[in-house]
Amino acid sequence: MGSAIAERLAGAGFRLVLWNRTRSRAEALAERLGAEVADSPMDAARRCPVVHVVVADDEASMAVLAGPGGLLGLGRLEGVTVFNHTTVTPRHSVEAYRLVSAAGGVYVEAPVAGNPRNARRGELVILCGAAGSEPCGAPQLAALGEVVYLGEPPAASAAKLGFNIAFLGVVAALGEAFALAEAYGVGAERFAREVLGRTWLRQVVERYGERLWPRGEASFTARLAGKDARYAQRALEERGVPGFLAAAVAAYYSLMDHDGAGEEDYPSIAGWLAMYARRTRSPGS
Ligand SMILES: NC(=O)c1ccc[n+]([C@@H]2O[C@H](COP(=O)([O-])OP(=O)(O)OC[C@H]3O[C@@H](n4cnc5c(N)ncnc54)[C@H](OP(=O)(O)O)[C@@H]3O)[C@@H](O)[C@H]2O)c1
Repeated sequence: MGSAIAERLAGAGFRLVLWNRTRSRAEALAERLGAEVADSPMDAARRCPVVHVVVADDEASMAVLAGPGGLLGLGRLEGVTVFNHTTVTPRHSVEAYRLVSAAGGVYVEAPVAGNPRNARRGELVILCGAAGSEPCGAPQLAALGEVVYLGEPPAASAAKLGFNIAFLGVVAALGEAFALAEAYGVGAERFAREVLGRTWLRQVVERYGERLWPRGEASFTARLAGKDARYAQRALEERGVPGFLAAAVAAYYSLMDHDGAGEEDYPSIAGWLAMYARRTRSPGS
């Protein structure tokens, strides 16, 4: 996602300085985009007034902000705006907002809905959370897609987890339905075609198509989908609300990861659950 966002920003005419934990990846992308490479997040922030953070999770985001060579190593961040596109917990977002604001910088939650192809085309939906709506009107965000201002952090992080649990819940529910069909000998493909295909759920099955089955390629991995379901559960529980569905979705993705399928595309949890049921029905196969 970070590469796709960088491509879009470069295409929109912004000058980029790239950093990635694995430097060779930043170098390869920089060569393709005619960008510079920074030695650390701090080095990037020293050279750029606007910083986009796109990393895996809370831990990675905190490492980029406050770890060795992190943005906060600059001391003061006056004149620096940090757009964090990472999907993080509300708790992390509040902490990141506090740290960057205390250093004099502007912190903006900017998690995205959409896939890397949407990012390359400037068709993301950017959920924006900041102290006021002004930073959400930045041209860098407008270049990436449609911006929705939601209020002060952690509003945007919470909304992003809400969006994710909605679509992750849909594909996990399809998986459980496929497993039921397999467990009782109907067969998942036949069930999808002959039962779901005759109802409104046909739209969901057709939308995902072959992506409902493991294919060895991913635009959003099962591993990160599991992380988001876990974050949604945690965020709900922190407000005293039971996150039963989020917990179940997280558990299914965790099972998938332990089965060696964590790098598969997230919708393939449906086909993976069907295959799991098939294996359970005929042990040893
Ligand atoms: N893919 C999508 O369709 C999509 C859609 C919406 C939102 N998102 C969100 O966007 C973020 C990135 O997703 P992705 O699909 O691009 O994941 P990804 O392909 O797994 O990339 C993760 C990135 O995070 C870096 N990273 C991981 N741990 C790190 C650490 N401890 N310190 C510094 N950097 C670290 C990785 O660096 P290395 O290269 O060194 O491993 C890599 O650049 C996630 O929060 C995800 O939930 C993704």
